[in-house]
Amino acid sequence: MCGIIGVVVSNKSTRYSPGSMIFRGLLRLEYRGYDSAGVASICGDKLIVLKGKGRIIDLEKKLGFSKICGSVVIGHTRWATHGAPSDINAHPHTDCRNWFAVVHNGIIQNYLDLKKTLINKGHVFKSDTDTEVIPHLVEDYYGVLRNVYRSFKQAVRVLKGSYALLLISVHEPEKIFFAKKDSPLIIGLGNGFNVLASDIPAILEYTRRIITVRDGWIGYVSGNDVYIEDLDGNIVDWRRYVRIIDWSISDAVKAGYPHYMLKEIHEQPRALKDTFYGISRDENIVRVVDMILDAEKVFVTGAGTSFHASYYFALVTNVLAGVMVYPFIASEFESYTSAVGEGDLLIVVSQSGETMDALKALRAFKERGARIVAVSNVVDSAIPRESDIAVYTRAGPEIGVAATKTFTTQTLVLAWIAVFLAKSCGCIGDDEAREYMDLLGDSAKIVSETISVTEYAAKKLSEWLYRVKSAYYLSRWIGVPVAMEGALKLKEIAYIHAESYPAGESKHGPIALVEEDFPVIFIVPSNREVEKLLLGNIKEMKARGAVIIGVVPEDSGLVDEMDYVFSIPRTHWLITPITHTPPQQLLAYYTAVRKGLDPDKPRNLAKTVTVE
Ligand code: G6P
Repeated sequence: MCGIIGVVVSNKSTRYSPGSMIFRGLLRLEYRGYDSAGVASICGDKLIVLKGKGRIIDLEKKLGFSKICGSVVIGHTRWATHGAPSDINAHPHTDCRNWFAVVHNGIIQNYLDLKKTLINKGHVFKSDTDTEVIPHLVEDYYGVLRNVYRSFKQAVRVLKGSYALLLISVHEPEKIFFAKKDSPLIIGLGNGFNVLASDIPAILEYTRRIITVRDGWIGYVSGNDVYIEDLDGNIVDWRRYVRIIDWSISDAVKAGYPHYMLKEIHEQPRALKDTFYGISRDENIVRVVDMILDAEKVFVTGAGTSFHASYYFALVTNVLAGVMVYPFIASEFESYTSAVGEGDLLIVVSQSGETMDALKALRAFKERGARIVAVSNVVDSAIPRESDIAVYTRAGPEIGVAATKTFTTQTLVLAWIAVFLAKSCGCIGDDEAREYMDLLGDSAKIVSETISVTEYAAKKLSEWLYRVKSAYYLSRWIGVPVAMEGALKLKEIAYIHAESYPAGESKHGPIALVEEDFPVIFIVPSNREVEKLLLGNIKEMKARGAVIIGVVPEDSGLVDEMDYVFSIPRTHWLITPITHTPPQQLLAYYTAVRKGLDPDKPRNLAKTVTVE
């Protein structure tokens, strides 16, 4: 999993040099992986490669990415899959003669066979990566065809797996060649220059006119032209695919916050407002509801945070509409496929729309005849494209690795679908539906208040929490996926072991670990019955010396049971993820910062996991 970028300039009057465009773009792509990075350009008649292990900012100081010469430059930021993070395994990769350089995001599944054949033909490999077969393959075909594009096409034809790849060559020094299958790639169209990148934030500073490259497309760009062919070799009329991006550049940068994560937590009121605006006008919602009502079995899936949103959806549809939806973790899809057939429906939740586990679940269900609904934050990404229908959150780009605003907006969309479903099947009346819709419409205001009343408490509590080794997050019913999300945040960015259980389950094992000063965080939804049940669980933990922390409605009797409390406005249980998640996000954030960690780039994690 990696980020790639390429810049080709025909008109020297562009504001930035190609090297500095690549460097700035790479910084924006760092969320896709950050164990090593590199750039390559054609300088005169020579191929120059600068690369190494480490963070982009350090490599810039050491190697000077932004100063690389030439008007055709490609760059890469890596998250290791084949071959450990190292100088040698960093991209770009080159052939034996230094004629071709390649950056690649994805996995070449048949690389071992290809490598063996190429070694037998005399090629010498320098790295342990799957990617390095590509420049050697192109070199091999070039020996026969003496034409870069035809050799590139021939090489791409034999690749099995996933790829977004860019190639430059000393033999055609004014072009970047590209191909795409299953990994994201966009083209940004400039005035006198063109850019290619894995994602929009990398190019937003330079242009808003983009083309989302489709699977199977292959071609090249120069400073003032684009050439694309599809899978069958037909020329693509790319002008039909140009879109104007309406995100502002400030959506994609830190805007004065010390970290993207904090900025994105604070963006939730705006993100929820935009998402509400979007779904309340989205005709696809009615279609999705009809698909659910027509389906024999309904499943919902996602990975990480998106699974928590999926689980929440299953609970809400059950309560509001009496519809049974089966939630499962995307990577476990094979455990469910034998129960799937025509007439069934799968809802795939994925903020990036590119997560391989979710994509594989989608494909497996589709193959068995199920219909597919996508819920995503990225228009035109792989999961929406391969689904029968898509609905979108409008959270804007999320750069922090840990999901924040994309979770609350996902639950808003899913709650909206559940309310419409309940109304359509006659489980709730028009007035009740209207009340829920108004509540969802108010969620932006509510979250804004929640953030302002809990941020200080989160900061204070982090002063103590940063020292602990382990914590439990407990709740019941609608609060369980929310507690799971809180535990995941603390684990992901503060590196504190955190587990989440339905509170009733804790007496069946987890409570054995509880001793003096063990932190137990209770998520208390706005629901009097659940509050009563949770009181017993709080007492159990207290009796064993636990420190009780709670996210609790301000007027609840449970406030007095807490050692530390995040007291939040009492609203309705339906929006528990929206009211109770931001304090947990803030707690994890400030704890990570107190530990001196970078919350935006947790170790071993990547934002978009496009490998299994
Ligand atoms: C990665 C991220 C998680 C995210 C998960 C699913 O593991 O680190 O934060 O929840 O992928 O991502 P998606 O884009 O499919 O929602």
